[in-house]
Amino acid sequence: MNQVIDRGFFKLEEQSSSESSRTSREKIWTLTLNVSGEKVNKLSTKVMSQFKALLPELEALGSESKIDALILLSGKPGQFIAGADLELIQSVSSPEQAEELSREGQKLMDCWEDLSFPTVAAIEGPALGGGCEFSLASTAILMSNDPVARMGLPEVLLGLIPGMGGTIRLPRKIGLTGALDLILTGRTLNANQAYQIGLIEGSLPQQGFKDSVIQWTRKNLQSMKAGNRLAKVPKMPLLGEVGGSFRSFFEKSPIQSLILNQVQKRILAKTKGHYPAPFEILNVIRSTQVGYGEKLRGKARSLALEREAQGFGKVATTEISKNLIRLFFLTEKMKKSNGLQSGLLVPEHRIEKAVVLGAGVMGGGIAQLFAEKEISTRMKDVHLQALSAGIQSAAKIFKKNVKKRKLTQRQYLQKLNLIAPVMDYSGFSSVDVVVEAVVENMDLKKKLFAELEEKVQINCVMASNTSSLSISEMQVGLKYPDRLVGMHFFNPVSKMPLIEVIRGEKTSDSVVASIFQFSKKLGKTPIVVKDSPGFLVNRLLASYLNEAVYLVADGVSIPEIDRILLKFGMPMGPMELIDEVGVDVGQKVSQILYEAFGERLKPCSLNAKVVAAGRLGKKNGKGLYEYQGSQKTKVFDPKVEEIIEFKSSPSIFSEEEVLDRCLLPMINEAARCLEEEIVQSASEIDLGMIMGMGFPPFRGGLLRFADTLGIDTVVQRLKKYQAKSGVRFEPSIPLMKRAQNGQKFY
Ligand SMILES: NC(=O)c1ccc[n+]([C@@H]2O[C@H](COP(=O)([O-])OP(=O)(O)OC[C@H]3O[C@@H](n4cnc5c(N)ncnc54)[C@H](O)[C@@H]3O)[C@@H](O)[C@H]2O)c1
Repeated sequence: MNQVIDRGFFKLEEQSSSESSRTSREKIWTLTLNVSGEKVNKLSTKVMSQFKALLPELEALGSESKIDALILLSGKPGQFIAGADLELIQSVSSPEQAEELSREGQKLMDCWEDLSFPTVAAIEGPALGGGCEFSLASTAILMSNDPVARMGLPEVLLGLIPGMGGTIRLPRKIGLTGALDLILTGRTLNANQAYQIGLIEGSLPQQGFKDSVIQWTRKNLQSMKAGNRLAKVPKMPLLGEVGGSFRSFFEKSPIQSLILNQVQKRILAKTKGHYPAPFEILNVIRSTQVGYGEKLRGKARSLALEREAQGFGKVATTEISKNLIRLFFLTEKMKKSNGLQSGLLVPEHRIEKAVVLGAGVMGGGIAQLFAEKEISTRMKDVHLQALSAGIQSAAKIFKKNVKKRKLTQRQYLQKLNLIAPVMDYSGFSSVDVVVEAVVENMDLKKKLFAELEEKVQINCVMASNTSSLSISEMQVGLKYPDRLVGMHFFNPVSKMPLIEVIRGEKTSDSVVASIFQFSKKLGKTPIVVKDSPGFLVNRLLASYLNEAVYLVADGVSIPEIDRILLKFGMPMGPMELIDEVGVDVGQKVSQILYEAFGERLKPCSLNAKVVAAGRLGKKNGKGLYEYQGSQKTKVFDPKVEEIIEFKSSPSIFSEEEVLDRCLLPMINEAARCLEEEIVQSASEIDLGMIMGMGFPPFRGGLLRFADTLGIDTVVQRLKKYQAKSGVRFEPSIPLMKRAQNGQKFY
């Protein structure tokens, strides 16, 4: 009779010998973690305290020689350990408290590592953060080749550093360069990738995974006990290792220092110093470079781990980390939602086959995305040339992915073949969704939707990618207006993560929910937005870009404005962004918003001069900047100052003033959007601005930033600018009400 010991979420179980090894006497046990009431296993306080209580029992079993090897498993199919409990980390308020949290976790991992018998982490799902660190403290790691099994240390994406020994154990197992890559990018690996770099000892088939793990453990028991390396030796040398020996002990080798210095430079260029976690990771790794190529024990391990705990304490309570964790929770919430405010479950349309109408900039991008996600797509245009350009632009994106080894040549061809270019309506009767991306013209769009109604089946959803036209207006005259919805992608489609799902007056719940879910399936972040001019993002963006242009008119130079906003953390300055969008396109959108909302969004006349001079932006090589060569390198062209008759201001604008003028009107407009229920919550505005315009994530989003400034301060400063520059800065009533009531956005 096999022994079973139940300890809360943990179950310890002796495994009987298999038929083939009935004669063998190895005593293999499994330890299964299954946190009840949760979809995934997280390392919460309760889990950790149960584990702590279990450790002496494990040690006793070992000393009584009742156990030869222990396999750590998840009791949830397709899961392992998804990481630490982020709510717990979020609630920590002082660096000392955070350090202590890290120390507690490290101690448990040390005890696991020090057990007198080998341990094997058997991973069938996400082993992230703490889950990955738990595995690293095991003698061996085995992974299922199911794609859901992934390993990684994504802490850096949350403004954190690994705090349970990850920064110490990973470089020792896979070498410095591989470890830096994983810890600094937060990327995750599947079984094959993990095996190739020597992170795991084996990749096993998903079918019969547990049995194979037990078999593997029996087979490799002696080698594990002897401390032999069973994982592949990474191609990149383990720094500190010479001639294949894993015993050398190099401290601060010049190559290591060189690599660390190079990486530091790259991080600085990429983060512009806004994110402290990557630097802290480097500092921890830099100051714990001992014993590469072998497991650390004793004092060396304690010292190294203590340095990690201090690093964790430093970053875990920063505003930056709190903002990034909040953002993570927001996206998780979105993943669980179907986009309906009521939360009601409604029948959803199945979307497997699609049509994209229009093969231009957006149509080509949307078709590529659909094919990428294995959705069979017909792309229709009235011009053969446009179709050919659309296919070419899709191919270009796929080819880039082949180059980055994200796709094989075969997969690239298979995916590209999913896009069928057509000039007629053949095959339309079997599709589930049509996304319209033809030129921005209401009459044309209405005519096309009326035609489409006759060609598609009754359940087909019709979506428009319009950036400024009313969805409700497009519904007028349709037989089934309830199936028309806005699906607003951002340019470039392959890179921009946001989709605004626009609910027209007559759009049904079921269609909103279907497009919301479909957007997630495409790997995007959807937000449901009311049908109103500029929807959410373009309306706020217009107030931002408009004010930046007014600043130029007031005498702040184009490069200076961009420099200040880049320093604030925007991915590109507003002037460069205007060029990206197209100076002419921006001008049109601004005009529409001016007509809708009046004087406060009146466009500055300056851009009209740039358009009149034929400078349309990056697309034709000249806009507010000039774009040179095949790489379209941005350079400042003083000629543009002649065109706009630029006069540098005699009164010097401070950086704060430039930031205020660009950002405060956006906050003001966002307060109006909330009042008008363009979206339902401040968090949707923040998500929209981060995903749709690249508002710096570490600032937590536009309204979170407003809260940090203080609503009263925002109102007072707006009033100051209103006195100088008029109605564009007039504080909105909802914002003033908030200030009066001392009410924040969060
Ligand atoms: N470009 C952007 O940044 C952006 C971003 C979001 C949304 N949008 C919206 O997407 C839509 C398309 O914009 P774009 O930039 O791709 O325009 P585009 O000019 O690059 O492409 C439009 C395409 O539609 C085709 N077309 C015209 N009439 C057609 C018809 N009857 N049937 C089929 N195809 C037809 C044209 O031949 C052209 O290839 C517009 O509504 C625009 O507002 C654009």
